[in-house]
Amino acid sequence: MTDVAQRPGDPKLGPHIVTSRFGLERSWSLDAYLATGGYEGLRKALAMTPEQVHEETLGSSILGRGGAGFDAGRKWGMLRKASPVYLVVNGDESEPATFKDHALIESDPHQLIEGALICAYAIGAAQVFLFVRGEMALGLERLQSALNEAYDHGAVGADIFGSGFSVDVVVHPGAGAYICGEETALLESLEGKRGYPRIKPPYYPAAIGLYGAPTVVNNVETLSNLPFVMRHGHDAFFALGDGRSRGTKMLALSGHVRRPGNYELEFAKVSFRELIFDQALGGGIPGDRKLKAFIPGGVSAPWFGPDHLDLSLANEKIAEAGSMAGSGAVTVMDEATCMVRAVWRITRFFHRESCGQCTPCREGSGWIEKIMRRIEDGQGRESDLDLLMDVCDNIVPGVSWPPAQTTICVLGPSIPSSVASGIRMFRDEFLDHIRQGHCPFPPDRLQESPAYA
Ligand SMILES: Cc1cc2nc3c(=O)[nH]c(=O)nc-3n(C[C@H](O)[C@H](O)[C@H](O)COP(=O)(O)O)c2cc1C
Ligand code: SF4
Repeated sequence: MTDVAQRPGDPKLGPHIVTSRFGLERSWSLDAYLATGGYEGLRKALAMTPEQVHEETLGSSILGRGGAGFDAGRKWGMLRKASPVYLVVNGDESEPATFKDHALIESDPHQLIEGALICAYAIGAAQVFLFVRGEMALGLERLQSALNEAYDHGAVGADIFGSGFSVDVVVHPGAGAYICGEETALLESLEGKRGYPRIKPPYYPAAIGLYGAPTVVNNVETLSNLPFVMRHGHDAFFALGDGRSRGTKMLALSGHVRRPGNYELEFAKVSFRELIFDQALGGGIPGDRKLKAFIPGGVSAPWFGPDHLDLSLANEKIAEAGSMAGSGAVTVMDEATCMVRAVWRITRFFHRESCGQCTPCREGSGWIEKIMRRIEDGQGRESDLDLLMDVCDNIVPGVSWPPAQTTICVLGPSIPSSVASGIRMFRDEFLDHIRQGHCPFPPDRLQESPAYA
């Protein structure tokens, strides 16, 4: 039997926990899973009390991998004492440049199911819902067939492995809206309603969640780590990493790198320079062009420039430097990237995906998108830069980070991140674009830009 924990990775980059089966033949099947230690973590958990399983998770200090980075064990401990309790798995993953949960669901669906069952046992969940982005057709197919296999194997349903613990799991495809990744909008959507985020307080899922019951919402990657934690103990997980950023984390690297893709790393011990330029990782920028900027944690995050390359990928280090680790999507932009176009594309995404409940988000995203489009089309005015910052200020007073929140959810405060980064870091380029009445970059360079596609 292959021991997942012992599977060798590059010692400098740390072991592979959640991606250890990637590349195995039919890695998504029950046979492959059982041959590599599958469901042993669940068996071990079921031999313990739910409180002990919770303690193990607390001891691992695993931070949520969905974006907010909240300690998973602490979140479970915040559940209102009531019955029933639900577990909802967030597999919506709809933000541009995010693709790690997609890979986990396609390549190792049993690991996710096992992780969800361990959590369900610890919190005493009456039902588990796997909410997965509807466009992930192959992932949904594999997840459903893995779930069927798990039922046949006795790992899900009544009296799991003869332990007396019973829980059902259902797969629920999302209908295709970014906002349904926000946990309360997701719950609304699961309830069959329009995906509107709920006002918090009082609608924190741990207090008032699905159907009004206390609910844990956890990300796919967060839960996929639990089989390892249970099999090897929290110490094995906690020993990896540093500070608050323990274990490994998947980084979805995209943009101007030779080797884009998912990399599972002992992230607190790896710098952005290593992620982007190491030959075993991103492999550097094609054509040996210079780095212009990179987005460290998804399009909601403020950008960094080359002066931040030596920063560690640890959540707290990125936060101290003025941005966020988010869901681990790192996008690289080389010197040929048109920053006006990049900002416009990101703002257009937010404008389309705003649910429309809050005026600053609904109107602000639209105004910014129109002004950015005007500049991009060569009709911009120099005063537009102050106007853009003024609109940003109306969404996030002071255009600060972490952002002050004037809206129901944090999609709104995410809008100014790229606009303010673009103007603050590349003001001259924005002005060139306006004064020349067109993009200052030759078209052949732009064709290569991911922000142009
Ligand atoms: C607009 C928006 C979209 C989000 N999309 C996702 C998503 O696709 N997947 C996810 O796990 N969390 C997403 N989140 C974060 C969730 O609200 C929530 O914090 C997370 O699912 C909790 O799981 P974790 O603690 O395991 O990270 C999103 C948040 C916002 C505001
Ligand atoms: S901030 Fe935007 S997406 Fe979030 S609830 Fe308000 S309008 Fe909807």
